[in-house]
Amino acid sequence: MARWGRNALFMSAGTMLIGCRYAQSTFNVHGPAAKSIANLSWAMTILFLVTTLIMGILLAIAFYRRRGTLAEHAPISDGGGQMWIAIGGIAIPIVILTILFVIGLSLMSDFPIHGMPGMPSSSQMVGSMKPDILIIGHQWWWEMRYLNDDPSRTFTTANELHLPAGQSVNVEVITADVMHSFWIPALNGKVHLIPGQPNFIRLMASQPGVYTGQCAEYCGAEHSLMRLMAVVQEPSAYQAWVADELKPGAQPVSSAAKAGEQVFVSSPCASCHTVRGTPAGGSIAPDLTHIGSRRMLASNIFPNNDAYLEAWITNAQSLKPDCLMPSLPDFTGEQISDLVAYLRQLE
Ligand code: CUA
Repeated sequence: MARWGRNALFMSAGTMLIGCRYAQSTFNVHGPAAKSIANLSWAMTILFLVTTLIMGILLAIAFYRRRGTLAEHAPISDGGGQMWIAIGGIAIPIVILTILFVIGLSLMSDFPIHGMPGMPSSSQMVGSMKPDILIIGHQWWWEMRYLNDDPSRTFTTANELHLPAGQSVNVEVITADVMHSFWIPALNGKVHLIPGQPNFIRLMASQPGVYTGQCAEYCGAEHSLMRLMAVVQEPSAYQAWVADELKPGAQPVSSAAKAGEQVFVSSPCASCHTVRGTPAGGSIAPDLTHIGSRRMLASNIFPNNDAYLEAWITNAQSLKPDCLMPSLPDFTGEQISDLVAYLRQLE
């Protein structure tokens, strides 16, 4: 039994490693921007391996040709050998690093980010790269505002970024507090969220799928638990999702959900969270209008099921210490199950 358990542990650890490798890796490519980055990464990796191999061969040759002790050999002569240093130590690295630099520059101009010499300014970018989505980094979650010239077609959600497959989407990133970095490796490189300095990134996914991401700039205690997820859908499914998100929160039907709504709007929940269509209009925490349809909770750490939802409400501080969500242990058992029933049906 113990051996079986150990084997299962090793097998699941192996599966997790493979899973991690494929889930969040620069080489796991699902969009044109990520593809150019992966090409550069492959070029650098292969170059590094070839260089290491050549260095190993040269060291081995030197090792086998010079036998004996130091005393038996004459002092190292300063005549000869300079050509090796000039070619191997200066000329070849200059050529290789220049090639990589040029490839890197061309890659940057494919996916413009303002603020670099020769790149447009922030205000020009807003004109030329009008954002479709505004992403705001918070300690430790992601606010996502879907923008539209028609204000009645804008909405806010959190942590789960929906995108239409095969279409490029312009994203503006800002931060509400400290520096963060937005990174979905399958779609594009990292872009920093800098206080007082909007930044831009263009995302495009070639095919539908779920691609995970991660805050990539240390931003405090729960930096590693500031995850996000891109859900890429066929354009028709994406449009259906948008139409659904635009609706206010679902009216509760069951008596438990009705009671849960009353608990929600009259408790501390409503002062931080919004559920559109109810008096709950707090803006410092994720918008919960459609929380029931999200796959994960707490910035994509836990699956969105009743058990985790209940645990998160009552004990957020032990699940994600220092986050702004307080532990709320004072609800009765019935209030908690009513709250969960209410949130669950907000699809
Ligand atoms: Cu946000 Cu690290």
